[in-house]
Amino acid sequence: MSPVEPVWRVFSARSSLLDAAVEVIRRVEAGSGATFSIVLAGGRTPLALYQRLAREPMRWEKWRVYFGDERCLPPEHPERNTLQAQKALLEQVPIAPEHIFTPPAELGPAQAASRYGAVLADVGEFDLVLLGLGEDGHTASLFPGRDIGEEPNAPDVLPVFDAPKPPLERISLSARRLSRARQVLFLVNGESKREAVMRWRRGEPLPAARISASEAVRVLADRAACPDG
Ligand code: 6PG
Repeated sequence: MSPVEPVWRVFSARSSLLDAAVEVIRRVEAGSGATFSIVLAGGRTPLALYQRLAREPMRWEKWRVYFGDERCLPPEHPERNTLQAQKALLEQVPIAPEHIFTPPAELGPAQAASRYGAVLADVGEFDLVLLGLGEDGHTASLFPGRDIGEEPNAPDVLPVFDAPKPPLERISLSARRLSRARQVLFLVNGESKREAVMRWRRGEPLPAARISASEAVRVLADRAACPDG
């Protein structure tokens, strides 16, 4: 099944991009049931959004937080995606700790993928998946030229032993599991992403381009990443 066509929006001002991202999250949250399951993105791009979200009156009691990928580093390592999300958002808002599902990436790729896969086995379609875009078109820790787990029987979580973006060892939700979502929202900022954006929009089967959703895939980009609008 080919992924749904993403809806692109390009912003000159970073604040307008963040406003739009908050609006998407608010709308998907409003359309969710008793709980709102969200998959947080790693890397640096989403941190400004997380800091902005921490000031918003969301329905935090509904939130169930998962992570799209994690680096296999000690829990307190500053480069852990979960630690960065905790500092920027999760420690700032009233989400119960038992509603935050942190991948045990410190156990190493194989064991962490198996453990996190067991956690996700009981989770249905995500309401919203947040993702970034790497300069080579990767997303989460799904890299070009590698198995990204698209087939129907792909595991929920993949071990990664040879990531081209350090650290080498990671875990990542598979393309299939990331796509089992009502909506997917990509945040793409900066000139360094320009080539990946161009290749994506040209139709190249980059990992980011292989992510789908049941309702919508949206890409919010700044003009530096997407000069052609
Ligand atoms: C990671 C991320 C990765 C990230 C992109 C973009 O763990 O590295 O999950 O997929 O989203 O590499 O990173 P930046 O937002 O830092 O440019």
